[in-house]
Amino acid sequence: MKKKLIIANWKSYKTKQEAHDWLKVFIDITSNNKFEGKEIILCPSFTLLPYLHTWITNHQIALSLGAQDISPFSEGPYTGEVNRQQIKEFAEYVIVGHSERRQYFGENDAFLTKKIAMAKEAGLAVIFCVQGRETGIPNGAEIVAYEPVFAIGSGNPDTPENANDLAKEIKTEKNIKTILYGGSVTPENVNQFTSKEQIDGVLVGSASLDPHTFAALAQNA
Ligand code: PGA
Repeated sequence: MKKKLIIANWKSYKTKQEAHDWLKVFIDITSNNKFEGKEIILCPSFTLLPYLHTWITNHQIALSLGAQDISPFSEGPYTGEVNRQQIKEFAEYVIVGHSERRQYFGENDAFLTKKIAMAKEAGLAVIFCVQGRETGIPNGAEIVAYEPVFAIGSGNPDTPENANDLAKEIKTEKNIKTILYGGSVTPENVNQFTSKEQIDGVLVGSASLDPHTFAALAQNA
């Protein structure tokens, strides 16, 4: 059976000290749990990736790392950008096309297609976010997260049935093997999503910020 992906998207939260405190608590409360059949992926800010990478390696913790974004360019004179090689030093995954990037940073399909190409060249696995049926999926996105905008941070998730139907559609029509659901996932509702046949994991924002909540969520998934 393929592993369920449980992904924490920390967005623009957490200092190094806060990340350290989160990890300590998370490890304490999950030490006896190997999360059989699940892969837990943390996606922190770029500033935290090296620190978390060292911590996870030194303590031999079964957590994977992902970035929340990637430059559409290779290395070069692109002030403020973090490129694929820099990310690849610390992470295996990258989120591309989150609705917040589309909304606040004007990222469009052409831009996102370039980002995916960059990630692929570096061997990073792309977690591509779609907001609904109408969102295009560029070639190279191997993991797709269905995240309806109304459900993000609202406490109002989509129904597991609807998410499952959409996941099935994307799998059949776009030949994508792994589909996640994201948007107001909590420890209480996570299993309603992950128990659906077509849903291969969850992308979690708010409920990933507290280690107790996220540990419970990962446990229940
Ligand atoms: P949320 O965010 O869990 O806070 O709804 C999900 C996301 O934006 O990825």
